[in-house]
Amino acid sequence: MSTLLIKNIGVLATSPDSSIKKGIHQKDILLMKDAYILCEDGRIRDYDSGVLPEADEVIDAKGKLVTPGLVDAHTHLIFGGWRQNELAMKLAGAGYLDILNAGGGILSTVKETRKASKEELYRKTKGFLDEMLRMGTTTCEAKSGYGLNLEDEVKQLEVIRELDEKHPMDLVATYLGAHAYPEEYINDHERYIKEICEKVIPYVADHKLAEFCDVFCETGVFSKEESERILLKGKEYGLKSKIHADEIDAIGGSLLAGEIGAVSAEHLIVCSDEGIAALSKGGVIACLLPATSFYLSADFARARKMIENDVPIAFGSDFNPGSCPCLNLQLVMNLGCLKYRMTPEEVLNAVTINAAAAIDRADRIGSIEAGKQADLVIWDAEDLNYLCYRMGSNLAHRVIKKGETVYLNEETD
Ligand code: NIG
Ligand code: FE
Repeated sequence: MSTLLIKNIGVLATSPDSSIKKGIHQKDILLMKDAYILCEDGRIRDYDSGVLPEADEVIDAKGKLVTPGLVDAHTHLIFGGWRQNELAMKLAGAGYLDILNAGGGILSTVKETRKASKEELYRKTKGFLDEMLRMGTTTCEAKSGYGLNLEDEVKQLEVIRELDEKHPMDLVATYLGAHAYPEEYINDHERYIKEICEKVIPYVADHKLAEFCDVFCETGVFSKEESERILLKGKEYGLKSKIHADEIDAIGGSLLAGEIGAVSAEHLIVCSDEGIAALSKGGVIACLLPATSFYLSADFARARKMIENDVPIAFGSDFNPGSCPCLNLQLVMNLGCLKYRMTPEEVLNAVTINAAAAIDRADRIGSIEAGKQADLVIWDAEDLNYLCYRMGSNLAHRVIKKGETVYLNEETD
């Protein structure tokens, strides 16, 4: 048994429990001043203020803010190449779907990802995970979706599995074969959907390569009916549902999410009142991606309306080489405040307990509670407002994963 004490915490800020936070509870945060946290064998044993317990190792937080490790509920982490050439196209006025239809966008990343070896993808993704940890993210979801055939989707999912085993970051895998139609099936959508349903989903499920199945439900990509077929097939094989819904056009993705009880619906930039009602009724978590709205110069999802309608809000970075080459959740938190008009308390729940719930991990991460994994961040911030107010700097001072320090900014020690 080994114990770790984090003392002199200026403010401890956490969801008080593991329940999903929605409506008026989206803002429920416990704030404790002059606190300590006692950890044992990588788990939280206790937290309180007052007389300090004994421990084998002591970390002095020197009056700083401590929160649970951040959880990134939506990333497309595994890909070959980059797409910096698209910046000029965008500046010249091309839209996201224009670029996709011109064979750029997702399909150009598919080419690069198919070309890349598993080792190359592993090394590249490991670099992303190192960077994410340094910025306070301790668990992330990771999607496939740049292989679009059995072999290359499996290659991506195997990289996710290996990194989950070997890297301090915890990863949760999502199969996103329905991210685009691959070039070989561009004129035969039905055959691609059959390949997904009859070949890839059974393989992914049998080999336990993913926990979730996701679909890009969008104009020119997968219709509501096609998305439903794929997600229901996934469910049949034990894969929980996520859906990219209402990002550019509202073609029914949020309605479908509500109907089938998806765990989460992502983006929701143009989600209608009816869509919000469906999410609320179906108990679906809205996984909002404000950095993508920013990067696409698009509108921002109507987070306040969702909160009013009891839809729980989680955040993700949406890190990917096209619509959001940003893996900084601190920036996502800034945008959540400024663009969604969410308070720092609401935002903290969106990147901790609700993000954990969006990847079905709320029982072990996302809050500071006895028995939970000791995934914690000590911030160069005196309170939660400061963390959400500063922009563009990395304020993570020390990142602790399962009780071990995985990053320390020695300059601010
Ligand atoms: O979530 N919307 C679809 N997929 C990604 C973009 C992927 C890409 O452009 O490569 C997203 O924004
Ligand atoms: Fe995405």
